[in-house]
Amino acid sequence: MTSKHLRIGSIAPDFEADTTEGPIKFHEWAGDSWVMFFSHPGDFTPVCTTEVADISHRAPDFKARNVKVIGISVDVLSDHYEWIGDIIDFGNLVRPTYVDFPIIADPKREIAKLYDMIDDDPAALACEDREQYTLRTVFILDPKHVIRATLLYPASVGRDFGEIIRLVDSLQTTDKYKVDTPAGWKKGDDVVIPHSLSDEEARKRFPNYKAHNPYLRTTPLTERVASETSKEDATCSGNGYAASN
Ligand code: BEZ
Repeated sequence: MTSKHLRIGSIAPDFEADTTEGPIKFHEWAGDSWVMFFSHPGDFTPVCTTEVADISHRAPDFKARNVKVIGISVDVLSDHYEWIGDIIDFGNLVRPTYVDFPIIADPKREIAKLYDMIDDDPAALACEDREQYTLRTVFILDPKHVIRATLLYPASVGRDFGEIIRLVDSLQTTDKYKVDTPAGWKKGDDVVIPHSLSDEEARKRFPNYKAHNPYLRTTPLTERVASETSKEDATCSGNGYAASN
């Protein structure tokens, strides 16, 4: 069970840290952006190298969504700097690569513990003679520093950061239009009308909605829906989060 202070809907704990881009205060650094805060098991490890190269390649996608990226591991800054050279070399095999986001050095494991990023994954523990690794966690924060989604993967499985971008798209869309998104949804696909909305309200806001059965209704998102939704903000319960993007 996730620690109470790290659950969806909690304010992400603030902290101060040394990073590859200088010291930061986390909330101050985040400002009013969305944040993808990810941990990786360690510098100079193969899967992590592929992950950070992939994140670097996706920088324009994160930027377009107003998402700041920040990483963390329990390695020291000098290792981070040296390892970034390897990431760039590896990433350059695909396209020009720049690691233009901070990576936190947390050798005392203070932030890793605060964010519950350490676990007894046998794959990680077997890897080297280090007592404790951060695993592959992801925290998605909204512009109010609220935790909106979390992910925990074992050391052996590299993450799909395209899925993280899809997740951000869904969060931003559900905040803005007060709808839900179905399995495998991608930007531009039909969305799901929340079950809290009566048929009458749904008809008013989403005139072209389709009822598949009494509780499953889908609708395209149109410009008209967008403007009607912002007018009705005061009366619509939506997903419980104020529009924040
Ligand atoms: C890796 O990134 O390849 C890795 C790191 C720690 C344990 C296992 C794999």
